[in-house]
Amino acid sequence: FFSWVFFYTGEGATGDDNLESWFVDKEFPEGFHWGVATAAYQIEGAWNKDGKKESIWDEFAHRRPSPIKDGSTGDDACMSYDFYKSDVKILQQLGVRVYRFSISWSRVLPDGTTNSVNEQGVLYYRNLIEQLLSNGIEPMVTLYHWDLPLALQKKGGWLSKDSAKWFEDYSRFCFDTFGPKVKLWVTLNEPWVVSVIGFEKGDHAPGVKDPGVSPYIVAHHLLLAHAKAYRIYQQHYRKLQKGLVGIALNTDNFKAASGSKRDVVDRAFQFHLGWFAHPIFSKEGNYPGIMMDRIAMNSAMQGYNYSRLPSFNLDEIQFIKGSADFLGLNSYGTTLVSDDPDTVKRGPSYTNDSKVIKQANPYWETTPMGWQFYPDALKEILAWIRDEYNNPPVYVTETGFPDDKTMLEDRARINFLEESIRNVWEAIQYGSAVRGFIVWSLMDNFEWAMGYSVRFGLYEVDFNDPKRTRTPRMSAYFYQNVTQKNALSG
Ligand code: NOJ
Repeated sequence: FFSWVFFYTGEGATGDDNLESWFVDKEFPEGFHWGVATAAYQIEGAWNKDGKKESIWDEFAHRRPSPIKDGSTGDDACMSYDFYKSDVKILQQLGVRVYRFSISWSRVLPDGTTNSVNEQGVLYYRNLIEQLLSNGIEPMVTLYHWDLPLALQKKGGWLSKDSAKWFEDYSRFCFDTFGPKVKLWVTLNEPWVVSVIGFEKGDHAPGVKDPGVSPYIVAHHLLLAHAKAYRIYQQHYRKLQKGLVGIALNTDNFKAASGSKRDVVDRAFQFHLGWFAHPIFSKEGNYPGIMMDRIAMNSAMQGYNYSRLPSFNLDEIQFIKGSADFLGLNSYGTTLVSDDPDTVKRGPSYTNDSKVIKQANPYWETTPMGWQFYPDALKEILAWIRDEYNNPPVYVTETGFPDDKTMLEDRARINFLEESIRNVWEAIQYGSAVRGFIVWSLMDNFEWAMGYSVRFGLYEVDFNDPKRTRTPRMSAYFYQNVTQKNALSG
């Protein structure tokens, strides 16, 4: 708080009224976790090598006509399965303390269950983890970054009641196998995207378009799956392994469009972040009240004799509540929201249920992903989280900036990162318990439905080069400076 006062009054940490003291370095708490992130399907390649079987993303990207913008796949991607040592080398150059990556479920358990373990797949992750640790980099492992084993999809995937149990078994396997070396776990990456983009819009695997019902069922199972993994860790592993288990949730920053009221903003946050965060992080648990009310009402008016939002029983509410040691926040942009006057008539869908219309602001910079950049976004989201959930520990598990051209002089990305880091610093001065900041991404990679048409990397990857050479962009040097100083230069 003290240093914040200095910063804004210009009185300066050095006590003189020299103008330069306004521009003091913004120092971060000791041990702050600077990092970068990737995910298995986006970087590894080797989609059918050494015993790995297909995941739903292998199957989805192989469909013809292709559902991917540039018709590409993750078959080879950055070839990190072969070149993981080059990844560790550039991680070292960046000076990051943590590397967030994910385990490909069907690489370690090709059929999804522990009946058959693929030792070569396990060895890949053991080697990667060893290599990281021997270079002083902590692994943060995401258990599920969207690549469900195809064998489990054939049994119903996330729509099946059994899915939570499948995930529990897989998590137990990973805690047993890698837990002695891994102290930071993320159960699920962006369950909102899995539910909405995978099952309402169908733009992601498994490509289902059932807007009114499936997203809610999938989300319900994902929440149970997450909580099972957390409880298993708590009961059987925590004492020996002493790690932390969290979940990575994505949200935009929502701001009221002109003429709209504050309650629209809150509803947008509740339907988006709250859908998953309220059951885990709120004092009372369960879905946000506004979601339960609205979906029950819409369902009744649409002729359903049940709410399309499934309900948790009291035991489940208790089981999910408190099932995270930290909230992982993934966030990339800001969206203007206004009230949708009549959503019932347009039929059952998650988006209509929220009664929110999203729109762009012509004055904000728009990225090739369509996301808009408003400089105070992260600070506003972090304040919302702090106030809504009684200030839980937070890792910014992802933020980053997409380009549609490849250029080494990526000033727009640097500007984005600088603003985002400043936001986190300010949030900390305001009391938010932010523990780390992780940039998406270490390097260019397969951007899901966009294929290779957009690039997020601090390192450029040459996808025509059989060695997939990684070249630092200017933003890599910028970030290296931050990690070395543990501060944003004034
Ligand atoms: C969300 C996802 O977690 C990640 O896989 C994706 O590439 C980035 N954000 C950018 O869209």
